[in-house]
Amino acid sequence: MLNMRVFDANITNPVIVFFEDSKDTSIEDLNSEIKTICGINTFFEIQSELDELINTISNNKNIINEPDRAEYGDFQTNRNLSDNVCNLLKSQNTEPEIIVEPTCGKGNFIISSLQTFENIKFIYGVEIYKPYVWETKFAILDYFLKNRNSNLPEINIYHYDVFNFDFKKISNKHKDQKILIIGNPPWVTNSKLSSLGSDNLPLKSNFKNHNGLDAITGKGNFDIGEYISIKLISVFSKLNGNFAFLVKNSVVKNILLEQNRAKYQISGIKQFDIDAKKEFNVSVNACLFLCSLNKKPNETIAEYNFYTKSLIRKYGWVNNKFVANIDLYLKSKNIDGKFPFVWRQGVKHDASKIMELENVNGNFLNNNKETVEIEKDLVYALLKSSDLKGGIIDKTRKYTIITQKKVGQETKYIKDLYPKTYNYLFSNIEYFNKRKSSIYKGKPLFSIFGIGDYSFKPYKVAIAGMYKTTTFSLVKLIDNKPVMLDDTCYFIGFDTLIEAEITQTLLNKKLTQDFIQSIAFKDAKRMMTKDLLMRIDLNEIINETDFYELELKIPNLKFIDWENYKGKLTKQNLVENEQLNLFDEQALHTTIPIRNVGFSAKIGDYANNKI
Ligand SMILES: C[S@@+](CC[C@H](N)C(=O)[O-])C[C@H]1O[C@@H](n2cnc3c(N)ncnc32)[C@H](O)[C@@H]1O
Repeated sequence: MLNMRVFDANITNPVIVFFEDSKDTSIEDLNSEIKTICGINTFFEIQSELDELINTISNNKNIINEPDRAEYGDFQTNRNLSDNVCNLLKSQNTEPEIIVEPTCGKGNFIISSLQTFENIKFIYGVEIYKPYVWETKFAILDYFLKNRNSNLPEINIYHYDVFNFDFKKISNKHKDQKILIIGNPPWVTNSKLSSLGSDNLPLKSNFKNHNGLDAITGKGNFDIGEYISIKLISVFSKLNGNFAFLVKNSVVKNILLEQNRAKYQISGIKQFDIDAKKEFNVSVNACLFLCSLNKKPNETIAEYNFYTKSLIRKYGWVNNKFVANIDLYLKSKNIDGKFPFVWRQGVKHDASKIMELENVNGNFLNNNKETVEIEKDLVYALLKSSDLKGGIIDKTRKYTIITQKKVGQETKYIKDLYPKTYNYLFSNIEYFNKRKSSIYKGKPLFSIFGIGDYSFKPYKVAIAGMYKTTTFSLVKLIDNKPVMLDDTCYFIGFDTLIEAEITQTLLNKKLTQDFIQSIAFKDAKRMMTKDLLMRIDLNEIINETDFYELELKIPNLKFIDWENYKGKLTKQNLVENEQLNLFDEQALHTTIPIRNVGFSAKIGDYANNKI
């Protein structure tokens, strides 16, 4: 039971009693007695430390508030979890002689290791926060006071910054021994540290050699735990043994992403997913990252549930492609290619209070709940990611004002043709003026983005970017007008319903869905990306589909429709890149060179409101 704090560290009753009994012992004698009891070298470094401890115990001043330790990514592993991690390692025949805990905190991994592994000869713990160094030392002493006959390793607990600690000395000293690097490094990113004004960073923080632009776009952002993992795997790469860290899932994924280039000498790579909310009270995907050291580099990982030990999936590199589910990928990899059209994101305006309307009993209300009376011409139905659930969509509650037919188009015409719309927009000009993104600078009044001829196609096949669904929706005309999607959605547009229906069916068939699942990382912020969608080889899916299979899903499908569709899409009928350029914004009002007049022969018609 923890009932007192000394040096800001918790201390247990047996340890307090031990020190009370040793009140009059000299520092030298006490240090050597502690060494014989629990193996720790130089428990007290200076006399004043011993004096302070004795003083605190006698005065019983034990209440100290926890300081804010955000910059140290401080999430202490509970004892139950550290015990279970060690038991898991033991069940996999891990019997280490050397334990290294590079950011040991209160020392729970060290105690669990002492309790679990019988052949430990040396333990090294490093921790930057002095109270935790003490707490670790107290905990070790407590352990040995209670387990006098336990195997006694030599133990060093260093009050040190992990970024400056010389781990090479340890790896040189124990070349021929079995090592276990175990722990839970800080859960904090370099960008969070810079926002805190903290320098708890490695000196060479650009360790992935990112350029300046990457640093700005966020690619240079990394987790401190990733840096520490890579550093230790590299320093101990010539020793036999294991590595076991609790880290965010993103850390493991990033290390594996680097693995086909960096070739870290690790194999048997496993990830055991934990419930971080339950264990650490944080909402993040986290796991135990395990691997063997000094092995031929492995580029794939098996992911399990930590509690049930059931296999979830294998992911990693297959033939130079990084995939989220290897088994599914191997079954569907023949459709890993290039989509023949450009997937588009929907409209972006950053003025939803004014630009988004809801139709309530025939009246438009904006997001400020004000009634809006404007001409209907520039008002279009709007869908968001949450509306795209994989079915057929022909109604919506939301509407939006479309001020331009293509990016950068002059908007003066609104004043002449749609005076009510202009007055409404102009009377809310402050919403447009306060848009922060630099894309709006120097652009015509009320400019929007993600708009082009493709936005005005009557039929669309669309998918949510922000949700975990992988099924595609079919979007039909609403109020006899094309429907807009917002910038969280991806879509392709079609001139005919049947072509949209066939495309939706092809994209929702099992083969395609397996392929998407095999390359989509569910824990990514935006699971569905343009890059991912552009990898779907529609031609190959066509090759693997027959008329009767489609007819089951599209009862009104005629054989000739299917033949026409195939004719338009099969590679030999497409001039290289023609289709890819089909829906480009610049293509508005131009005649499209296409062999089989089809998907967009009359490009610009909808844009010009000719339907
Ligand atoms: C996520 S906690 C885990 C602690 C311990 N490994 C455990 O499993 O309970 C991270 C620990 O790293 C320590 N830490 C943060 N920055 C450090 C640094 N630069 N050098 C050494 N330790 C550091 C923190 O004080 C904290 O104790």
